[in-house]
Amino acid sequence: MAKPKIALIGGGQIGSTMATLAALRELGDVVLYDIVPDLPQGKTLDLAQAGPVENFDIRLTGSNRLEDIAGAAIVVVTAGVPRRPGMSREDLVETNARIMAAVAAGIRQHAPEAVVIVLSNPLDAMVTLCQRLTGFPAHRVMGMAGVLDSARFATFIAWELGVSVRDVKAMVLGGHGDTMVPIVRFANVNGIPVLDLLTRKYGDEGRAREVMTQLVARTQNAGGEVVDLLRTGSAFVSPAASALAMVEAVLHDQKRLLPVCCLLEGQFGVQGYYVGVPCVLGAGGVEQIVEFDLTDEERQLFHHSVAEVKKLVDSLPRL
Ligand code: APR
Repeated sequence: MAKPKIALIGGGQIGSTMATLAALRELGDVVLYDIVPDLPQGKTLDLAQAGPVENFDIRLTGSNRLEDIAGAAIVVVTAGVPRRPGMSREDLVETNARIMAAVAAGIRQHAPEAVVIVLSNPLDAMVTLCQRLTGFPAHRVMGMAGVLDSARFATFIAWELGVSVRDVKAMVLGGHGDTMVPIVRFANVNGIPVLDLLTRKYGDEGRAREVMTQLVARTQNAGGEVVDLLRTGSAFVSPAASALAMVEAVLHDQKRLLPVCCLLEGQFGVQGYYVGVPCVLGAGGVEQIVEFDLTDEERQLFHHSVAEVKKLVDSLPRL
């Protein structure tokens, strides 16, 4: 059986880590595209030579020609510049919008049937632009943020409680910025609410809530924490793994319910903006947007986050 083709647009830190993870899992044949001459060729050549050792056998192509993405079932966009210390995701908007314009035109021309997952920041604005410029139906253009933000929240919860990350479930919704909304009441360890476990640990509900507030704040700043430590770029392993979970859900029609940045058309009271909400991901892309009732506090935080997304989208340059 022919393997599906996965096109990775942007062969930097995230793109090349995705190629590595996709190869290790033999998810499909991978085309790594970048604008820098020889860079994607070098990266795929190196990776291919790990095949005999790691026992994977897929076709790996490095390219500087967008037409090489033709026939891709799925396209992941990480092209753009990452943050440096002191920069917000919003500072990237001008540069990355221009890059997205070029990339979206190429996807539209060469992979018109593909499902597209955008990672370039500022995420909510870049995915909006990608959908507008490709003209693809919205269910086929989505952004990766919530899977990563939720994984970060789950990691911090696991460390705080001294339990395995495998058993922690946590969900983060809203925009991919400092106003993202970790849904505290849903956070659980194999079904046991995290707030209950924190209350037992500290013997006091007030203290438990304080600790939870710290976990939420660390989650909201988790990307920045990595940027400050790395100094020369932003997080790449966890974003790559998170995006690959989405790729796998689509390629294997897994119907996973994941937080995905998708176009809301009335759901959660939002009209016409890309925001992170729970979705069912399968072969068709976003197959369902799953609504649930927000508490008054969650609704307030969610709409505050949406207001930030709107500001960002409204600041997009005219292209
Ligand atoms: N077409 C294709 N690739 C491009 C283009 C373009 N027009 N412009 C830049 N690139 C490439 C760069 O050459 C670089 O190899 O995009 C790659 C980006 O890689 P990194 O700089 O290593 O950035 P990375 O850490 O992978 O992050 C990519 O994802 O999370 C976001 O904020 C992050 O916007 C950033 C993006």
